[in-house]
Amino acid sequence: MSQTVSRADFDQFMVPNYAPADYIPVRGEGARLWDQQGREYVDFAGGIAVNALGHAHPALVKALTEQAQKLWHVSNTLTNEPALRLAGKLVEATFADRVFFCNSGAEANEAAFKLARKWAIDTAGADKHEIISTTNSFHGRTFFTVTVGGQPKYSDGFGPRPQGVTHIPYNDLAALKAAISDKTAAVVIEPIQGEGGVLPATADYLKGVRELCDQHKALLVFDEVQTGVGRSGSLYAYMEYGVTPDILTSAKSLGGGFPIGAMLTTEAVAQHFAVGTHGSTYGGNPLACAVAEAVIDVVNTPEVLAGIRAKHERFVSRLTAIGDKTGVFQQVRGMGLLIGAVLAEPYKGRAKDFMTAAAKAGVMVLQAGPDVVRFAPSLVIADTDIDEGLDRFEQAVNEIAGR
Ligand SMILES: Cc1ncc(COP(=O)(O)O)c(C=O)c1O
Repeated sequence: MSQTVSRADFDQFMVPNYAPADYIPVRGEGARLWDQQGREYVDFAGGIAVNALGHAHPALVKALTEQAQKLWHVSNTLTNEPALRLAGKLVEATFADRVFFCNSGAEANEAAFKLARKWAIDTAGADKHEIISTTNSFHGRTFFTVTVGGQPKYSDGFGPRPQGVTHIPYNDLAALKAAISDKTAAVVIEPIQGEGGVLPATADYLKGVRELCDQHKALLVFDEVQTGVGRSGSLYAYMEYGVTPDILTSAKSLGGGFPIGAMLTTEAVAQHFAVGTHGSTYGGNPLACAVAEAVIDVVNTPEVLAGIRAKHERFVSRLTAIGDKTGVFQQVRGMGLLIGAVLAEPYKGRAKDFMTAAAKAGVMVLQAGPDVVRFAPSLVIADTDIDEGLDRFEQAVNEIAGR
């Protein structure tokens, strides 16, 4: 008999670095989840932009179970077929010539920042090690990635940080112009700031950043951990902008719920990671790569990508209408199926309340900071699920707005 567990066990047994909701999901199918009590939710959270194809997608279940019968792990003293197939597909579909696999977004960024510095120091000497990032950005929770991330609340309190990292305001080309120099190894940007409030870069900004990087021989690193694998309406958001990075990081949706991260780069830059320079025991794990290959096969088709753009319109027009009726939103923004409803002045700081009220009404949403309600559902969510979820969300909004 299996042991019965409850939310109270979290407070008893788990390190208290999270504050999970008071219900425990036990099963999912498509864009729906069910909790221990059999209550059903429409899932607009997608495991924070991870469940790219919803829950228990047949293609992913098939890829995982078939691989599970064959080979689980071999370590990087060997290579394996799923990793090679996935790497080939990522190279074929993007600017990249080379791929490094790991297990999470933070690890992909850790690899990216180390590679950028290695490249810069190898090619121009030890002084060229500076990394420029933006305020409010988020790149993961390792010490290097919280340091590059522009939110001191995540990097404070752990003693001395890695040196040589500066932060400038996002979407501010003049600030970058003032900060960049020949000592800059890399400029690190999320094409849409995800955790920082679902804030898209402007096209002119990214084009200008690319030019400044070229002038100063600095690498441009796009963190596409949240925006990648169809989330923006293109396979990667850089394609929407027409601005190509030198290094790109991917995770979250890449595994559709199975942990995997990837760093993509060019032939010339990749050569600065020689044998032994960097690594990961599980990086390129056959189970993860088999699932990710299936995710790419489903997402990277004209029909699915066009569907994401159409679903964006469906979300935005309805959220805008809810905002107009209730006055709770000052703006609805984002790209593809990464959408943020920015709370109007009287509701600022209350994004968590909207999350809680929405769950009570039977729909899971996210926050992106205290002032933005975030939506990152399955990329293949049915229109009927969108409509029903938004009906429930409207109920929650009405409750908060006292209507
Ligand atoms: C843009 C971005 N980079 C990196 C990360 C970190 O990814 P992970 O939590 O898989 O380490 C996140 C996670 O939210 C993210 O949104």
